[in-house]
Amino acid sequence: MVSVLLVSGTAVAHDNKVLNLYSSRHYQTDEALYNNFTKATGIKVNRIEAGEDALIERVRNEGERSPADVLVTVDAGRLWRAEQLGFFQPVKSALLDARIPASYREPSGLWYGFSLRARGIAYNKVKVQAAEVATYESLAEPKWKGRLCMRSSTNIYNLSLMGAMIDHLGEAKAEQWAQGVKSNLARAPKGGDTDQLKSVAAGECDVTISNQYYYARLLRSGKPDERELGEKIGFVFPNQGSWGAHVNISGAGVMKHAPNREAAVKFLEYLASDAAQRYFAEGNNEWPAVRSVKTSNPVLTMLGEFKHDALNVATLGRNQPGAQKIYDRVAWK
Ligand SMILES: [Fe+2]
Repeated sequence: MVSVLLVSGTAVAHDNKVLNLYSSRHYQTDEALYNNFTKATGIKVNRIEAGEDALIERVRNEGERSPADVLVTVDAGRLWRAEQLGFFQPVKSALLDARIPASYREPSGLWYGFSLRARGIAYNKVKVQAAEVATYESLAEPKWKGRLCMRSSTNIYNLSLMGAMIDHLGEAKAEQWAQGVKSNLARAPKGGDTDQLKSVAAGECDVTISNQYYYARLLRSGKPDERELGEKIGFVFPNQGSWGAHVNISGAGVMKHAPNREAAVKFLEYLASDAAQRYFAEGNNEWPAVRSVKTSNPVLTMLGEFKHDALNVATLGRNQPGAQKIYDRVAWK
């Protein structure tokens, strides 16, 4: 996402009037998000922004002396990796427990989801009917031979999706699915979700899997040619008749060695407030994690309500090693 390190603010303080925030997010609405926290609490936010994996590496190198109070990143699978590295301390907060649905937070309070994304199926409207791609399972059918584009299986979004498939189908059937999809690929996996969507729009392949916000970005793009590509694509929330569409989160946790622990907990609670939920979700065309907060995003409104997978997102991380093994065995790359 962001490849350079941006440091705003100055030194680390221990009087709980500052918060050192490590974040892989970088959106326009973030300015208002952080300013409002400072206005409400008097706590200044020092931001360190970097790409997701660079940020985790940085904390690892800093060890016990890390000034980080809170880590904000995307995908439960990545939060799970940070958890495995011992980054977080558990937070007990009645407010967070009441606001954030149980399936969007780590059960012992190590991290919490603050916005929601869905990994759905995108298709070329000229070549495919929505009903043909109503389930993830359908993409393994032989009729799609040479018609699918997919990004790499090492990508965290695909690892987390497989984590959900393993939970719902069991390892053997999940592997059969991966094998089927892999043998239907139009080309070797390359690029990100946006590249797959553009290939679908251009007719290089007919169907892909993508997070909804990449689709929303195309439709809301300031560039007419990108909007045109978006118009050629249909988007389905799969498995509405079974376990529901795969959902994941952007989230945050309080660091084990946080110098400003109290401020850190306050910040997580602030992120669950109505106003912060809107900023946090809308910066990236995501849904607020707090159910009572409704989105006003035009594309998300157009996509409508849908059945979410009820699986606790912490399971996606726990299944990640198994997911990687399956992808390796079928050589999805
Ligand atoms: Fe993304």
